[in-house]
Amino acid sequence: MTEPAISARGLRKSYGDKTVLDGVDLAVPAGTVFSLLGPNGAGKTTVVKILSTLLGADAGTVRVGGHDLATDPQAIRAAIGVTGQFSAVDGLITGEENMQLMADLHHLPRRKGREVTAELLERFDLVEAAKKPASTYSGGMKRRLDIAMTLVGGPRIIFLDEPTTGLDPRSRHGMWEIIRELVSGGVTVFLTTQYLEEADQLAHRIAVLHGGRIAAEGTAEKLKRLVPGGHIRLRFAHPQAYEAAASALRAAGLPRTRLPARGSSPDEEALTLRIPSDGTQRELRALLDWLDAEGIEADEFTVHTPDLDDVFFALTAEGAVPHQPEEADR
Ligand SMILES: Nc1ncnc2c1ncn2[C@@H]1O[C@H](COP(=O)(O)OP(=O)(O)OP(=O)(O)O)[C@@H](O)[C@H]1O
Ligand SMILES: [Mg+2]
Repeated sequence: MTEPAISARGLRKSYGDKTVLDGVDLAVPAGTVFSLLGPNGAGKTTVVKILSTLLGADAGTVRVGGHDLATDPQAIRAAIGVTGQFSAVDGLITGEENMQLMADLHHLPRRKGREVTAELLERFDLVEAAKKPASTYSGGMKRRLDIAMTLVGGPRIIFLDEPTTGLDPRSRHGMWEIIRELVSGGVTVFLTTQYLEEADQLAHRIAVLHGGRIAAEGTAEKLKRLVPGGHIRLRFAHPQAYEAAASALRAAGLPRTRLPARGSSPDEEALTLRIPSDGTQRELRALLDWLDAEGIEADEFTVHTPDLDDVFFALTAEGAVPHQPEEADR
């Protein structure tokens, strides 16, 4: 098996007597997107800073790009790019000058530096703005410049700490496209985000950081299966059909069926019955058979799997029990 692009074991970090990381393990296969999710203050930025050599851990081992953090941080620094949570853009100079500064930091020869800068400005749609001071850029432009600067050295592993926070939907989608392009070119992306949809869209694997540990880790699909919240929705066009179905369900005593209170005036939502279900074929067939037998015909029958929001809230609630990742899933 090839070595993961990024791996950490037993990471610990405290500030004073406040424990932020209490034994974090993770592994990111090369060429994939890994998303670290967690509420504000969970320690996401702390993890990014440790993995990218900017901050020392109290304990644990880290390997990035085949190099050991303890013995060869310099090699790691040369292999990675980091876009911090807060912009590294210098507002007093132009976008182009910011880029050239990065090229110099990477010791690129003059000509090569100019080439790379021009190419990235083009790719990130910043050519027009290139000669203007970066302080005049919009939030989305600054964020694009930030990432363009990260890519100057051609890193194969990049860390993006909340790259889309504060961006409008169009800019966010633009950023997703950029990330997808990078990954299709073989780059490994370690991404933190506040947006569950973003992790769902981009990440091959997602980890939820809570209480100083990884509370759950896996594909979006796997995480969604961890929490209840899946259900089948039956919608009826006519109040009579709805009432008949509701009373049949009550009579059958289907457990945990969500029914609106009796006598409530049937509005849009009140003509809908929610039946908890794991969405498996077996459950669906049993329910459909039962509906047929009862002569209930819904106008709409939809299956809802829990979304990442359900997962996130379930896992990061006060007193939530960390889910132990199963070996087979790793
Ligand atoms: N230099 C520091 N000194 C003391 N405490 C710190 C320091 N840096 C971070 N912390 C604390 O560590 C905890 C984790 O912070 P961190 O920035 O890693 O969280 P985060 O998950 O990135 O949060 P956010 O979503 O708000 O960016 C927080 O409680 C924070 O107050
Ligand atoms: Mg942060």
